[in-house]
Amino acid sequence: MATTGAAVGLGNIWKFPYIAGENGGGAFVLMYLLCIVLLGIPIMIAEVMLGRRARENPIHAMLKNSRDAGASKAWAFIGAMGVACGMMILMYYSVVAGWSLEYVWQSMQGSYMDKSATEVAAGFGVLASNPERQLLWHSLFLLLTAIIVGLGVTRGIGTAVDNLMPLLFVLLLVLLGYSIRNGNFELGFNFLFNADFSKLTGDAILIAMGHAFFTLSLGMGTVMVYGSYMPKNSSIPRAVLAVAFLDTIIALIAGLIIFPLVFASGLEPGSGPGLLFETLPIAFSGMWNGSIFGTVFFILVSIAALSSSISLIEPGIAWLEKTGISRLFATCGLGLICWLGGVASIYSSAVFDTLDYATANVMLPLGGLLIAIFVGWKMGYTRVRKEISDIPALLFNIMFITLRFIAPIGVIIIFAHSLGFIA
Ligand code: PHE
Repeated sequence: MATTGAAVGLGNIWKFPYIAGENGGGAFVLMYLLCIVLLGIPIMIAEVMLGRRARENPIHAMLKNSRDAGASKAWAFIGAMGVACGMMILMYYSVVAGWSLEYVWQSMQGSYMDKSATEVAAGFGVLASNPERQLLWHSLFLLLTAIIVGLGVTRGIGTAVDNLMPLLFVLLLVLLGYSIRNGNFELGFNFLFNADFSKLTGDAILIAMGHAFFTLSLGMGTVMVYGSYMPKNSSIPRAVLAVAFLDTIIALIAGLIIFPLVFASGLEPGSGPGLLFETLPIAFSGMWNGSIFGTVFFILVSIAALSSSISLIEPGIAWLEKTGISRLFATCGLGLICWLGGVASIYSSAVFDTLDYATANVMLPLGGLLIAIFVGWKMGYTRVRKEISDIPALLFNIMFITLRFIAPIGVIIIFAHSLGFIA
């Protein structure tokens, strides 16, 4: 439950629909699902296991694991890259979370009520061209993150968040009902699930893979940290399957809410990062008590974002603390760096896009690749089997073979393909 809380965030509700829209829908969605199953699940099992064995922040965890396995200390690079990657993601994640706060505000005011769909959708453009406003919300969101992390109460907040996430799920189902009744559900459904492979570019495949890592919070030490809290006797494969399943379902539901609205209102599926904020207010504006539903919904989305932002910065803080720096000082330092990065991504969409592209499509899959190689080849069969002893041998062997061969080769092929080395 706790790891699902960390995995579910803006990635599912904001990012998945907009990149699916930009990359033509069906074939892209299928690639994303394949990447979840073939790369995401085995690598997630491996990363959680590394955390549970070491019970440390990602850098020290990798030092410990490599010592145990008799491998080079250089494997701690996985942890170091993860710390950097988490901070880089937070630099734009916090800006998007800020948009969600703005829509809490707008929903409370009823700003988008009783307007036409085109007017409602245009509202996002107004926000996008108002950097000061975005700066305000970005600062507020990051401050909230820093207070929680600085006080060291992330696990306490985590439990609170996990209790609210089922409510978010219920609201998503309400919205889905609205979309089925009032949207163009058939067109929306076909867009998401009708795979037309002629639309699939090399870059789209890379983005689908990157998103599989992003949405599972994989490849940067976050799930290592969660693994380090996991009791020795609980089943890693079972926990991972549950997280991956719920995370995927939520993303697909978000897509099934948004695209029927897109088509019914004559909007563009590929309109970009504003898609969520252009479409959902349309549903709220036509709904009974929509302003209340909208307020609660965007509050819950912001809280989901908060639980993810905590897990983005916590690996860095935990590592600095271990090196003797005080928690407060570490939080202020890393928080300030993320805030500055956020300012840059507000004022320059090139910075925003580059941070997103470099982290999701390069650093996370690279981290995942290294984790698969480390666990599959350096730790070796016996050590891994000892950690994951609760599944039948056949199932374990399939998982181990996937980790050893399919996952690393898959990541390498997709990297090479998108760079144009192979067709
Ligand atoms: N998985 C989170 C989401 O979908 C984002 C995230 C990525 C959080 C990496 C932590 C680490 O919103």
